Amino acid sequence: MMLFGQKLHPRNFEHGSRLSRRNGSIEVTARTFKVRITCDEITPACTRLRFDNSNVADKRNYSDGVVENLRAGKSVPVGKGTPTFSTSACDIEVGASRLGIRLKNGMVLETAEDGFGFNGAQSLFNFSVPDASGFYGFGERTKRFNKTGDSLDFYNVDVCAVFPHTFQRDDYDPAYVAIPFAIVRTGAGYVGLYLDNPERLVFDVGHIQPGHLMLQSLAGNNDLYILSGPTLRDVVRNFATLTGRADVPPLWSLGYHQCRWGYKTAAEFRALRENFEKFDIPVSALWFDIDYMDEYRVFTWDRVDLPDPAKLNRELKSAGIRAVTIVDPGVKLEQGYPIYESGTKSGIFCKTASGRDYVGRVWPGDTVFPDFATKAARDWWAGHFAKFIKDAALDGVWLDMNDPATGWSATEDMRFECGTVAHGAYHNQYGHLMAKASWQALRKLDRNARPFLLTRSGFAGTQRYSAIWTGDNVSNWEHLRMSIPCTINLGLSGVAFNGPDVGGFCGHTDEELITRWYQAGFLFPFFRNHTTAHTKEQEPWNFGPQCLARIRDAIHTRYRLMPYLYNCFFAHHLTGDPVLRPLLYDFDSPAFENLDDEFMVGDSILMAPIVERADAGRSVVMHGVRRQQRHVALPDGWWFDLRAGEWIPGGRTILCSACLDEVPIFIRDGSIIPYFNGKFRNGDMTLTKIELHTFIKERDAQLDYYIEDQKTRQYLKGSYNTARIRAGNADGETRIVIDEEGRYATGTVEFAPVIYGSEPSRAVLEHNGVRRSRRLQNSTRRWVSTDVSVQA
Ligand code: GLC
Repeated sequence: MMLFGQKLHPRNFEHGSRLSRRNGSIEVTARTFKVRITCDEITPACTRLRFDNSNVADKRNYSDGVVENLRAGKSVPVGKGTPTFSTSACDIEVGASRLGIRLKNGMVLETAEDGFGFNGAQSLFNFSVPDASGFYGFGERTKRFNKTGDSLDFYNVDVCAVFPHTFQRDDYDPAYVAIPFAIVRTGAGYVGLYLDNPERLVFDVGHIQPGHLMLQSLAGNNDLYILSGPTLRDVVRNFATLTGRADVPPLWSLGYHQCRWGYKTAAEFRALRENFEKFDIPVSALWFDIDYMDEYRVFTWDRVDLPDPAKLNRELKSAGIRAVTIVDPGVKLEQGYPIYESGTKSGIFCKTASGRDYVGRVWPGDTVFPDFATKAARDWWAGHFAKFIKDAALDGVWLDMNDPATGWSATEDMRFECGTVAHGAYHNQYGHLMAKASWQALRKLDRNARPFLLTRSGFAGTQRYSAIWTGDNVSNWEHLRMSIPCTINLGLSGVAFNGPDVGGFCGHTDEELITRWYQAGFLFPFFRNHTTAHTKEQEPWNFGPQCLARIRDAIHTRYRLMPYLYNCFFAHHLTGDPVLRPLLYDFDSPAFENLDDEFMVGDSILMAPIVERADAGRSVVMHGVRRQQRHVALPDGWWFDLRAGEWIPGGRTILCSACLDEVPIFIRDGSIIPYFNGKFRNGDMTLTKIELHTFIKERDAQLDYYIEDQKTRQYLKGSYNTARIRAGNADGETRIVIDEEGRYATGTVEFAPVIYGSEPSRAVLEHNGVRRSRRLQNSTRRWVSTDVSVQA
């Protein structure tokens, strides 16, 4: 059923009329249903309610959203008196037609009267939230950050195929990734609701009924997880624990990536490498889009254009550049094509209801699809996948068209588990399970390496296997602007490693747009320029020398900040904190509830990029140069304005202006930013000499910096150190004390102080008791296009 835009009306649901207790559960009965409710305490901050509806014939929970070790919880008995489940985090009162959740931290979430009901296999949880002022998360979304007033569909689609008007619009829904997770902000704090059901869901956030949050499922049984706050950080961390915090990516994957649909020949890849070198731009990976294949047959190469891919990829790697290929799930239906024949023989393709292999229409024409829901298909896939990666000396894989995209062939005819399971149970998980199978293949190839995968589609928990890019955007200002809230909300939904196609995918970009896109995007967790076939060439050197210099500056700044960024990813692995965050994350205030044209990277860097065309917004001419103006909301405290090179007070909104060379960036008082000031060698970075860029006005500075080998999986066995870095100013000097502890070799990183915006010209750095005192000299460090004066 395609109902984009159409709603389930709450009046069409029947409500319970009777309530009884049965074996530790509560049973709600009505004329057309009987629903059994059980409760489990999953962790002290996470409670699960399970609803078993008599109209849902298939009782299996098909979701792979929750990490395996948290799927079973401590069963919570029904209390005496009013039927209530009491856990460490909350008391849940169940009525025949209503639910009341009282969190021990003071928050209350109650359904409306008659707000809890069923219509056949459909379910409704209609929460009355009149005092809620913000709704966040929801996975990958267009539009704005705060979803108040929106209706959100959870059904992965190939966006351009379903919404061909994306050129004009930035408000289509759904997109490629379904993560049914809502974060609710009220005056009393935050709470998270995760509806763990891979079937199609609709969350209505006050669109049809203002002041209500309606969670609806179209089929399947529901597990409703309640994630306690009270802070946004608590909720996000709890959800990340439940669905899995991502492993730390390989360092190279945090660099700059270059892609285009249309790169075809070995000569083109060699020319790209040469150009990056010639134009002094580091690049960590070059990407092969579908043209590398032999007529779009998966796991093949076009041997005319790319006679020896392994040789080419090794050559790239020797220059520090990794190679990543696209891999689509669809297998060309063709007798004699070994992958098709092997899949047919193994019986691993998805089936129709009548038991035939389901056929779709994708790049190679008629296409069949591995049934990633079965272990047999995942193993089959992993075998071919691993061989392909190994033979071609590839470093990573880009998983695409896994929404799944089936062309004009009706997707819902595709069934799973040998045709026994209807489409809906796995639709939203197709990309997720493809990523899981691919991840397993890469793990098998090298048990000590960190796989790098990028996927278009996903579900809750996909970050356990893959990074996500936000699909086919458009080279226009609306899509640039929209990329910020989209990346923020995905980050709050567990997927820290994500980002858009920089420069825009569809359509032609221009000098101004691409400059602003690089300036806004150079600290996004995932940073790749990609465009579709037949658009204007989009590599950094195609827009004239001035534009090239600006783009180069942005990319260089990313590489300089690589220790900081990498550390954010390490911290995400330990805590679940997103890398790119809304201001609300660190500074809770109604002033930031809707703010989504500024963001924090980690907890120190505030970026307020220009995301409007010069002739659309406000601008001033100063010294003959047009400078664009924008408002920047600064949280309380002091902020170091990198362009002005001075401290400015926060707790207010300032008007900022920036010419085309500039991007407004502010550093929070009390920050230490690890910075790499060495020579770039593309993706090969050795971060053994790190500058500690120290920003102290009124707050002492601190940073936990993680040290390990940055490429293997040994850190997962505890082989990493935490350098607790603390800095303060006193008696005219800056004192930095580093206590490095852990199970990794100590002293592998050498730190040097760099002081911003303060008088001290002497620094004392004490690393594990060894003290060095230095007179500092005036120097500069570059941030995007600005040389900032420092003491180093
Ligand atoms: C899809 C992808 C896009 C890719 C294209 C060709 O549209 O989203 O990134 O370039 O397919 O493979």
